[in-house]
Amino acid sequence: MYPASERARGAGETIFASMSRLARELDAVNLGQGFPDTHGPSRAIEAAVRALRAGSNQYAPPGGVEPLRRQVASLWGARFGRTLDPDRNVTITSGATEAIAAACLAWLDPGDEAVVLEPAYDAYLAAIRAAGARPVGVDLGTLLEGDRAALEAAVTPRTRLIVVNSPHNPSGAILGTAALNTIADVATRSDLRVLSDEVYEFLVYDGEHRSLGSVPGMWERTLVVSSAAKTFGLTGWKVGWALGPEQLVREVRSQVQYLTYAGATPLQLAVADALDDIDALAPLVREPLRRQRELLVRGLEDLGFHVVPSQAGYFVLSDFGLLRAETSHEAALALAHTAGVVTIPVEPFYADPARAPKLIRWSFARQPDVLSEALRRLRTALLDGPIESQGTGALR
Ligand SMILES: Cc1ncc(COP(=O)(O)O)c(C=O)c1O
Repeated sequence: MYPASERARGAGETIFASMSRLARELDAVNLGQGFPDTHGPSRAIEAAVRALRAGSNQYAPPGGVEPLRRQVASLWGARFGRTLDPDRNVTITSGATEAIAAACLAWLDPGDEAVVLEPAYDAYLAAIRAAGARPVGVDLGTLLEGDRAALEAAVTPRTRLIVVNSPHNPSGAILGTAALNTIADVATRSDLRVLSDEVYEFLVYDGEHRSLGSVPGMWERTLVVSSAAKTFGLTGWKVGWALGPEQLVREVRSQVQYLTYAGATPLQLAVADALDDIDALAPLVREPLRRQRELLVRGLEDLGFHVVPSQAGYFVLSDFGLLRAETSHEAALALAHTAGVVTIPVEPFYADPARAPKLIRWSFARQPDVLSEALRRLRTALLDGPIESQGTGALR
């Protein structure tokens, strides 16, 4: 059981908030936090305005407004080849983040363990600890290479849950069929629940996303989480959803009732409207990101960074061999202070930050002129020789 002071590490300022604050303080180009600098689809925005004006301004039911539940049930039901009941199989949450927190609070007891694939989005670690449980990291790279031993070794009699994230933050990797089958096999054999965070499912540039919930035998034990944040580039709306078998959805919804009770009614209605046109809207969000990914990756490689290929989402990882820095944390601070470019260090993506590799995360969810300005600043800073570390600073 984690003491409250330890659990509070997850409740303090996140690395994303602290790096965004640093970007404002230094007037740096912010390639850190995962949000796009665009307005979002006008269809969704007009629908939100209409809902506000029409007076849809009171509490939604805890499961979310019926039109959104219906849309999610119909669209994801078609993807899974199942008939989903909008009330029993879908629940709307305040972003994917609330679904993740609610699932961990509902399913984990003090002393339990939950397996995460590292690097792991930091909300998983915080939510698992908030439930009093212990996150156990498994290197994502081993799974992608077809090695199942690390995952098998991480599962103990205390394990209750595996948290999976594909497409993956921060690497942009997509778990292929072999990796999904391995997870399915391990989860089934040890009778574990699986939380599958698929928020980047519509932002795929290379390869194909397959939901863990559609792997044979997995529907019964998997809660699939997704969100309008990344799909429509509306991160500030905090409209997400969880879908799965009735029992899992009911347990999550019962937590949501006492976390937020319900999310924002007019925004949920607007997302339902946007989902009605997902086939047209998704490429409008995705294709500019694909071009921005090329611009950033090519620019970083031209400067001499080694970039880990990213297939999806908002991010790429790179090394920081061009910098005089020991840790990812030091490298991110050096880039911010010396070059005026904010990135994200990877330590917070590890249950044990000492195990973090020498990588930093860059967001390409920025307009081309912003990315070009970041690359220009980096080039200028590097002309003065290797960028010097600024020490470890005040970031956690
Ligand atoms: C993997 C992953 N899951 C969940 C979220 C949060 O989603 P939401 O804004 O819908 O809460 C993010 C945001 O960066 C993310 O990267």
